[in-house]
Amino acid sequence: ISLKESFKNDFLIGAAISRSQINQTDSLSNALLKKEFNSISPENDMKWEQIHPEKDSYYFETADKYVALGEKNNMHIVGHTLLWHSQLAPWVHTIKDSATLANTIKTHITKVAGRYKGRIDTWDVVNEALNEDGTLRESLFLKLMGEKYIAYAFKIAAETDPDAKLIYNDYNLWKPEKRAGVVKLVKSLQEEGIKIDGVGMQAHWSLLGPSIEDIENSIIAYSDLGVKVSFTELDITALPNPWDLDGAAVEQSYEQFESDPKMNPYPIKLTDSAQTQLAKRYEDIFKLFLKHKDKIDRVTFWGVNDDHSWLNNWPIKGRTNHPLLFDRNYEPKKAYHSVLALK
Ligand code: XIL
Repeated sequence: ISLKESFKNDFLIGAAISRSQINQTDSLSNALLKKEFNSISPENDMKWEQIHPEKDSYYFETADKYVALGEKNNMHIVGHTLLWHSQLAPWVHTIKDSATLANTIKTHITKVAGRYKGRIDTWDVVNEALNEDGTLRESLFLKLMGEKYIAYAFKIAAETDPDAKLIYNDYNLWKPEKRAGVVKLVKSLQEEGIKIDGVGMQAHWSLLGPSIEDIENSIIAYSDLGVKVSFTELDITALPNPWDLDGAAVEQSYEQFESDPKMNPYPIKLTDSAQTQLAKRYEDIFKLFLKHKDKIDRVTFWGVNDDHSWLNNWPIKGRTNHPLLFDRNYEPKKAYHSVLALK
């Protein structure tokens, strides 16, 4: 029994993998990946700063291995991501005019998506282009090209790899204002005749939120547009985040948080009560996913097991976090069993 087997008639079950996992230096993690998951996402290795660090130089070695790993194991292969303001190569920031930027984006997408044409199943074409209120985020792309940069990126991606699914990916897409922004964006692409196949909801969530109702409203709103929903970066932090605390605490610096035991109450092992809470939260979320399985393509966790999670270091460095279904010994947690029990 495994996640991928249990949900095989519902949606894909994915995991993000890091460079060491792509290089298969960690055999336990690799065994777990093959047993439990049928989709992979590259945690960092296809981002612009990694894959196209200088104007005329590309680094494809790790990405090539990543795609080969997915093919060898018959996995759905996600490309993440073609256009994002973050983890962008520094040289791109020196561009000063619209025409040069447009050309640069075109070259980047053509070269990267072109190299893996027919082999990447889904591309996160544009990542995190919206503000929390649903307006377009200030970025180099918006500043130089205006809002058309998004349509432009999707159009080039579709021309480069016509068979790949193309999605718009972002966080906090359960928020009503941001949801409205996505709806507007997808509609405008559709009206221009530009291919978009899905919306990716990142799903970096906590024990406290978002509410099931907000998530559900977004699934329905996106699906009503005729596109599929994917949960692309699921993890549930078991620790308090700065924004979950009261106003005064939020004012404190991250340095203070690092030395505050309240911020790291679970050094190595999750307490029993926290295990139970996490299990319940995952159960509620997967119940919702199953209810809307006709609208959902894929549920991808942002990591295979707790040891590899980026949340050990973000938003506060040095914390021990427990956001995934497998622990530091690659053993399934209570949350794993609560999710499987739904089937
Ligand atoms: C994160 C990685 O997990 C970290 O290793 C890296 O240092 C920063 O980026 N949204 C995204 C992902 O789309 O690419 C981010 O991944 C997490 C937030």
